[in-house]
Amino acid sequence: MDRYEQVIELAKRRGFLWNSFELYGGTAGFYDYGPLGSTLKRRIEHIWRDLYVIQEGFLEIETPTIGIEDVFVASGHVGGFSDPLCECIKCSEAFRADHLVASIVEVPDTLSNKELDMIIKENGIKCPECGGELGNVYEFNLMFKTTIGPGSGRTGYMRPETAQGMFINFQRLSRFYRDKLPFGVTQIGKSYRNEISPRQGVIRLREFTQAEAEIFIDPRDKKHRDFERFAVTIVNLYSEEGQDNGFVEQMTLGDAVNRGIVAHEFLAYHIALTNLFLQRIGISQAKLRFRQHKRDEMAHYAIDCWDAEIETDRFGWIEVVGIADRTDYDVNAHSKMSKTELAVYVEYDEPRIVTNFMVKPDMGKLGPVFKGKAKAVSEALKILPQEELEKDEITVVIDGEEITVPPDVVEFAEETVKVSGETVVPHVIEPSYGIDRILYCVMEHAFDEEMVVANENDENPEKEERIVLRFKSEVAPVQVAVLPLLTRSELMIPAKEIVMQVRERGLLVTYDDSGTIGRRYRRNDEIGTPYSITIDYQSLDDETVTIRDRDTMMQVRAPIKGISDLLYNLVYKGKKFETSGMPI
Ligand code: ATP
Ligand code: GLY
Repeated sequence: MDRYEQVIELAKRRGFLWNSFELYGGTAGFYDYGPLGSTLKRRIEHIWRDLYVIQEGFLEIETPTIGIEDVFVASGHVGGFSDPLCECIKCSEAFRADHLVASIVEVPDTLSNKELDMIIKENGIKCPECGGELGNVYEFNLMFKTTIGPGSGRTGYMRPETAQGMFINFQRLSRFYRDKLPFGVTQIGKSYRNEISPRQGVIRLREFTQAEAEIFIDPRDKKHRDFERFAVTIVNLYSEEGQDNGFVEQMTLGDAVNRGIVAHEFLAYHIALTNLFLQRIGISQAKLRFRQHKRDEMAHYAIDCWDAEIETDRFGWIEVVGIADRTDYDVNAHSKMSKTELAVYVEYDEPRIVTNFMVKPDMGKLGPVFKGKAKAVSEALKILPQEELEKDEITVVIDGEEITVPPDVVEFAEETVKVSGETVVPHVIEPSYGIDRILYCVMEHAFDEEMVVANENDENPEKEERIVLRFKSEVAPVQVAVLPLLTRSELMIPAKEIVMQVRERGLLVTYDDSGTIGRRYRRNDEIGTPYSITIDYQSLDDETVTIRDRDTMMQVRAPIKGISDLLYNLVYKGKKFETSGMPI
């Protein structure tokens, strides 16, 4: 078994996650989260909310998971959100043509469908399932299409990202934030992509959870007010140059901006925040890097994009977060489609005195030259932008016809006005997280196996294998297990009282009295419970319990009074286990 299989086997057995629709044979690209998996996911989302919603103040919104066609025409998804597909003529199995080709021959990343067809033919690539001939490569749109309402209805799409729900609400959100840039909005929710052949389990799903932030910023100033906070943060950067020359550089984000590797402070700030989040939930720094999109892979509207990538045992480096400067593309696209001005009026600190160059068309002179078109020419001249008026030859367009206006039919004037601000279309910085991939990586990085003494409480030299999920206590789906040593009511009753006390403190607690204490410790190690409390006969005499630390298996005795505060401090406040009680 490789690590992926080990993690998934444990995940199924212990109630984290498994394939959906198992009862009916299952279908690729869908996973169910069981009790522990759902709790783990909520813990990860909770920490994300802590960073983005509470600390950064990017308030959360919730929009429908189905979108109307206009939204996705404007966003470009109807036209271009597709992958190259080829089908087997014999068995009808579908494949992502670029992935299939790349798994057999070494090819560049960006190939046209014609080029993929040629490579398939030249290399005699056949269906990996049945060896049959493959049909021509064509573009397959990844959005799930549906119909809104009965009858012929209206076309709708399951959203392929949560982002559009935030862009199309720009006007209301901007007003909510009193039209002050920058402001940020977040959304956590399901996204849907009809992936062609999802063979990577929980890594490539057809329904998955995204956590996205859209931060609307002033395009004229991409410095971040709090960049100092992260200027010294060291990250692993796999820049475009690094990818060409095969190196990953460890550097501070301050250096990365100064050297022009990361486009600007705002983007660097969000790389740092992603780094902070992933480390806080337990991703190891050595297996985390930020990879820059190369010019030829970056979306045409973006200025700079970085993917947070995590190293996994089976799939190598996988993208878990995309952090992009999407410029004003989305806001403009929806402005054009909806025929609504989407912009913010930004006031200057001090009003500015501006001299405008004005044109005064002279109808007495325009009339004889342009006859019936004279009025239209006059109107067009009045709204001509400043830079057009300053040209040697003035041209206007009337009904699609370009008309050159002789200089002697217009007069110019200068006008000095006080201007208190200007209208800007904000640029958008977007960190886009895939929570399911992150959750898998958290499990894989936490997974450990080691040989330990078989019976922790006896000095028995016999060793056995222990599997342990070394979750950070803040993330663990069970933070405390309360275990009466024996199933006797004199131990079970105080144990249940402790459960109530610790639950009231807001910790995730489980009560477990089935099986030997050794088996119960192992079970809790496997689900990553950081602390186990055991109530034994000594507890009845001196009102103390043992607390066991999952990682070291060390045990201490601590008074029952105040146990919930002690556990809270261990879980959330970084209190050291070694000093949490009396050694035993
Ligand atoms: P990939 O190249 O792996 O398909 P992508 O570049 O299409 O990913 P984005 O469109 O940038 O991914 O989506 C943002 C995030 O959403 C990704 O970083 C990833 O974590 C998550 N994501 C995207 N597609 C899927 C999927 N099919 N299953 C699970 N998570 C996904
Ligand atoms: N919103 C970015 C993405 O999902 O692609």
